Amino acid sequence: MKRTTLVTLTTGLALSLSASLSAETFDPLRGPIPLTGDSAPAAMMKVEVVQGGFQRSFEQQPPMIPHDIEKYDISLRSNGCLKCHSEETFEKEKAPRVSDSHYQDRDGNVLAKISSRRYFCTQCHTVQLSGAPLVENTFRGKP
Ligand code: HEC
Ligand code: HEC
Repeated sequence: MKRTTLVTLTTGLALSLSASLSAETFDPLRGPIPLTGDSAPAAMMKVEVVQGGFQRSFEQQPPMIPHDIEKYDISLRSNGCLKCHSEETFEKEKAPRVSDSHYQDRDGNVLAKISSRRYFCTQCHTVQLSGAPLVENTFRGKP
């Protein structure tokens, strides 16, 4: 008896939940598609490649990455970015060297190896895609 009531209750709940979900729509990232439907596939966008790099918008901004990074992995054992950007490699690869801050621990001590705080480059540095902004943005960087 108890079990039957519970089953009836949960089925009822599930039904009313799916009914309210399908009625709801979300904009603008997903478009006017009910939550229960498949969203349209994301538009294909190209990674922007900019000779000389992107201009920075404010002081201390981590510069944006002006090249594709798909082939470079960052894992516990190796860091693809350092093959070009480290102290040892930057000259040969003609790449900008990571700045001194990347060789310092949080107390300002200078380290021989890249600081663990700066190991996962894409925490701070990102590529840019050639798409239209998804939401309006009125941010203006320094002139
Ligand atoms: C094959 C060499 C190579 C590899 C690997 C590489 N880069 Fe670069 N990177 C460059 C070169 C060369 C430039 C300068 C491009 C220019 O200014 O035209 C550059 C520029 C940059 C800049 C812009 C610096 C500035 O001051 O504007 C950032 C940030 C950067 N790379 C981050 C990364 C990250 C993060 C990775 C790994 C995911 C990576 N790079 C992997 C060669 C490389
Ligand atoms: C915690 C955030 C953070 C991480 C992680 C980080 N960076 Fe940076 N990076 C910055 C900031 C902020 C700047 C600009 C200020 C400065 O030079 O310290 C910068 C500057 C740079 C520059 C430009 C140097 C110059 O003299 O103009 C390069 C190249 C760079 N980073 C590459 C890398 C690479 C490669 C990695 C991974 C090994 C990495 N960064 C990890 C925040 C970070």
